[in-house]
Amino acid sequence: MEVTPETNAALVDKAVRLHRLTENELVRLLADEALTEELAAAADQVRHEYVGDGVHLRGLIEFSNICRQNCMYCGLRRDNPHTERYRLTVDEIVALARKAVGYGYHTVVLQSGEDMYFTAERMAEIIRRIKGLDLAVTLSLGERPREDYAAWREAGADRYLLRIETTDRALYEKLDPGMSWANRDRCLRDLKELGYEVGTGTLVGLPGQTLAMLARDILYYQRMDADMLGIGPLIPNQETPLGEAKPGDFDLTRRMVSLLRLLLPEANIPATTAMETMVPHGREIILASGANVVMPNVTEGDYRHKYALYPGKICVADTPAQCRSCMGGRIQAMGRYVAEDKGFRHHYGAVK
Ligand code: 5AD
Ligand code: SF4
Ligand code: FES
Repeated sequence: MEVTPETNAALVDKAVRLHRLTENELVRLLADEALTEELAAAADQVRHEYVGDGVHLRGLIEFSNICRQNCMYCGLRRDNPHTERYRLTVDEIVALARKAVGYGYHTVVLQSGEDMYFTAERMAEIIRRIKGLDLAVTLSLGERPREDYAAWREAGADRYLLRIETTDRALYEKLDPGMSWANRDRCLRDLKELGYEVGTGTLVGLPGQTLAMLARDILYYQRMDADMLGIGPLIPNQETPLGEAKPGDFDLTRRMVSLLRLLLPEANIPATTAMETMVPHGREIILASGANVVMPNVTEGDYRHKYALYPGKICVADTPAQCRSCMGGRIQAMGRYVAEDKGFRHHYGAVK
């Protein structure tokens, strides 16, 4: 008897029910441009059922743009002489966190390049002081030895963001020269074992990246049980070796976000700044396609534009207060609301 092949629409239904797809099935849906809206609607429904209508705002503090690494796509790479480097003091960082409380944030994300000035001990002091403000603390500081991660967890850090960028080892090691994929994977395992909520994710549109690689990224996130997933398109930066690369595709990135919501229904998924840099109101589009988190910038003044991973970054001329009220209004206009809790990951067990 002949088996009728499942249509792509039927695959979406299956993903809604079972939260499982094979690599080949994922590739089919990633490739299906005509299915973008349907996939987004299905992901929006699963988002509503599993994590609700609250949108969690995380206040992002970009405290140093000094980086020892040399990623081919990133404006902060050490060989970019055009980036004017800065580093905030411990007191300045804590003061920004205090202001974030004033704007009504319940989480701050401390983000920097891989700046070794911030030793394990110096970072631990910052974390302890900020934890005294009753905030959840997310770190995004790159690759470090397990002991550093352990010390920061001990100091009270709750979460850690480290995108794997791509699970294809060869591609990763070509685009992140001098870095090892195995070490990045080791970092993510250490962070999980130490009890962090772990965020990772993909940079969509890396030259040489295939749909099969994106599908395998999704399966990797499912296997590691990622708590958070940050996905954004590549935005070519003229000050880097990938200046002439093709930008990542917005709708492909959007399908990736939707598929992640279907396969990791409990995860916290941000609508990333890069999405809105590509398309006006891109963050609302992504919030309606499976995402439930936004990370407005609380860094002040000139530092906002000096933290330039890619060109055209939104909000560099706005103040933290403007971004907070802007996002609040936009979330309400969507019929959603700003969540008032710290926004830890929901756990329903294997399937709700
Ligand atoms: N375009 C889009 N995203 C970028 N990142 C770095 N450079 C770029 C770029 N040119 C992303 C990487 C990194 C995160 C902090 O920013 O995925 O993990
Ligand atoms: Fe440094 Fe991160 Fe940029 Fe790589 S992506 S150069 S590690 S800031
Ligand atoms: Fe920054 Fe809208 S979020 S101005």
